Amino acid sequence: LDDEKRLRLMKATAIAHANIALIKYWGKRDERLNLPAVGSISVTLRELSTKTQVVFDEKLTRDELILNGTPAGEEERQRVSRFMDIIRSEAKISEKCKIDSRNNFPTGAGLASSASAFAALALASSHAAGLTLSPEELSILARRGSGSAARSVYGGFVEMKKGEAADGSDAFAVQLAPPEYWDLHILILITSTEQKLIGSTGGMIQTQETSPYYFRWISEQDRDLREMREAIRKRDFEHLGELAEFNALKMHATAIAARPGILYWNGTTVELIHEVRRLRLQGEAVYFTIDAGPQVKLICEAPSVDKLRQHFQNFPGIKQIIDTPLGPDAYLWEASK
Ligand code: PMV
Repeated sequence: LDDEKRLRLMKATAIAHANIALIKYWGKRDERLNLPAVGSISVTLRELSTKTQVVFDEKLTRDELILNGTPAGEEERQRVSRFMDIIRSEAKISEKCKIDSRNNFPTGAGLASSASAFAALALASSHAAGLTLSPEELSILARRGSGSAARSVYGGFVEMKKGEAADGSDAFAVQLAPPEYWDLHILILITSTEQKLIGSTGGMIQTQETSPYYFRWISEQDRDLREMREAIRKRDFEHLGELAEFNALKMHATAIAARPGILYWNGTTVELIHEVRRLRLQGEAVYFTIDAGPQVKLICEAPSVDKLRQHFQNFPGIKQIIDTPLGPDAYLWEASK
């Protein structure tokens, strides 16, 4: 019975949602602990989530990872296994585990899933390992897997603190406002489903080592963060949108100026930037942001969604459109069942 009880306690399932940054994280102050060089502000997305089950089992000889129903590649498995080593060392356990992780959004949609994946994994695995973590500690743990995952611990509007401490103890996210605070929508315009050539970590390192604009990017971020907090506090949509667009283009300009330059956009990405600006000249309240990939994310308020969706439905080069309002905190699904 003891064994059975123990096994039951060593299993948990969690759900976390993806997020999109309005003020971007780009640059690391410590690679090993994954400490950001800048703070960031994001919104959590209701329609994009990852559900992850973790089972620690003393019979396993190595960690196993199933992604969307199929065994993950060796590189991904090792990245996750290194993350599990952190959990094991904190919980003082040695059991290997089986991880089953599923995204509710189409795989190969060209969407970054590391934020929702590592937030769900941090919550499920810490719970399964018997750790009781505060939200800050959970966010710090998720950060070790992926910087943006630290933000997916919370719903609504979230700020990731850059922190000052060398051990990362103050580099965690906090919630600025819950999802129901403001009915913002993000429309994800998918322009490519191909794997990108340079990931976020590689892109950041290359930017900080070679871009002449990197220092300027870093030095302006606190001002952008302050302004974004203010726009959210006032529910000032124009200000939020204009600032998000500025910050995203500034991040890309800094990366483009690296040597060799890092360009995540395709032709459709550029056409869409022009189109959003044309729509604004016609009086439409819509802005865009872009992450380390070619997809364009429109930022709008709920009443504009239908019209915008229709407008972009047949736009050349768009493969799919996903509309989402803001989503909730990460949560446990069936703890120790
Ligand atoms: O969390 P990472 O390592 O996948 O980096 C995220 C980088 C951006 O998506 C471009 C910006 C951000 O703040 O999410």
